[in-house]
Amino acid sequence: MPDRPSDRPADRPAEVLAELPAGAAAPATAPAAATGQASGTGQGVAVVTGATGTLGTALVSRLAAAGLAVLAVSRSGDAVGAGERACLAADLGSDGAVAAIRAALPPGELSIAVHAIGLPSAPGVMDVDPGLLARSVDLKAGGFLRLLRAVRDRIVPGSRLVAVGGHLGIEPTEHAPLAGVANAALANLVRQLTGPLGRLGASVHLVAPGPFESPRVEALAAAKAAGRGVAAEQVRAEMAAEYPSGRLPSAEDVAQVIALLRDPAAGVLNGSTLFADAGVRRGIF
Ligand SMILES: NC(=O)c1ccc[n+]([C@@H]2O[C@H](COP(=O)([O-])OP(=O)(O)OC[C@H]3O[C@@H](n4cnc5c(N)ncnc54)[C@H](OP(=O)(O)O)[C@@H]3O)[C@@H](O)[C@H]2O)c1
Repeated sequence: MPDRPSDRPADRPAEVLAELPAGAAAPATAPAAATGQASGTGQGVAVVTGATGTLGTALVSRLAAAGLAVLAVSRSGDAVGAGERACLAADLGSDGAVAAIRAALPPGELSIAVHAIGLPSAPGVMDVDPGLLARSVDLKAGGFLRLLRAVRDRIVPGSRLVAVGGHLGIEPTEHAPLAGVANAALANLVRQLTGPLGRLGASVHLVAPGPFESPRVEALAAAKAAGRGVAAEQVRAEMAAEYPSGRLPSAEDVAQVIALLRDPAAGVLNGSTLFADAGVRRGIF
């Protein structure tokens, strides 16, 4: 269960919650119903967006295995991961997701909500559609705010709100303009939320993975290989060699790190960025 620090002003949830803007108005149509079951074992509620993605699927399985009642959210609403979980179709790029998620939440207090949606692929900075930059910020930063508003009535001391960003927000490259801009915006938003969430005794975190084993990285390697006229295996081997361990982490590795944030001691990490990159980054910050 989430911790309940008694020395914090979190025993005034209604008062402090008022600092968070109200949720979006309910959509004209009734929110879609979740499919599946998310009873959990009394450990609290988890919500994962981007649930059909590589990381999202690993997160759903890990949090369900920890006994949480998991709501898995993606646009498709496909069944993902292992264990008991409910699946919901909702688009985090739309305000309608707020009411849809809120209506589908399993009973119980919020243990952890993770925003892990991925962005569409796009050309490099010289050719990218400028409008896609705004759309990407809306999906990552706006989507995180929508998730927060959907779960805000379930936030208790010890609840964790986690945004998955990435190293490209901190180490920009001309080849990934969307992830660079959107993850930088997300990092700023997380710091803004440190106060409102912290005053509830809850906490907000940015997790910034480096490349991990995933179709996303496979596609990147294939594109780089095609550009250089070499085999994709060569590019993958070069990428792996950049890691001190000689291998990219798996999505399960990253999911495990995110699940660690449920530890009561992790409240002191409120607002901080966790670089889940297995040491591939060289920067200090
Ligand atoms: N893969 C990496 O190496 C890497 C490295 C650094 C950071 N990251 C970050 O880690 C996160 C997960 O990456 P990943 O590789 O696991 O992503 P992914 O496999 O591409 O998954 C993307 C997920 O996002 C969902 N999604 C996309 N747009 C959505 C929307 N508007 N509303 C709701 N769901 C939406 C998709 O579900 P549907 O298609 O079913 O809607 C899918 O489940 C991302 O934030 C990414 O930036 C990844």
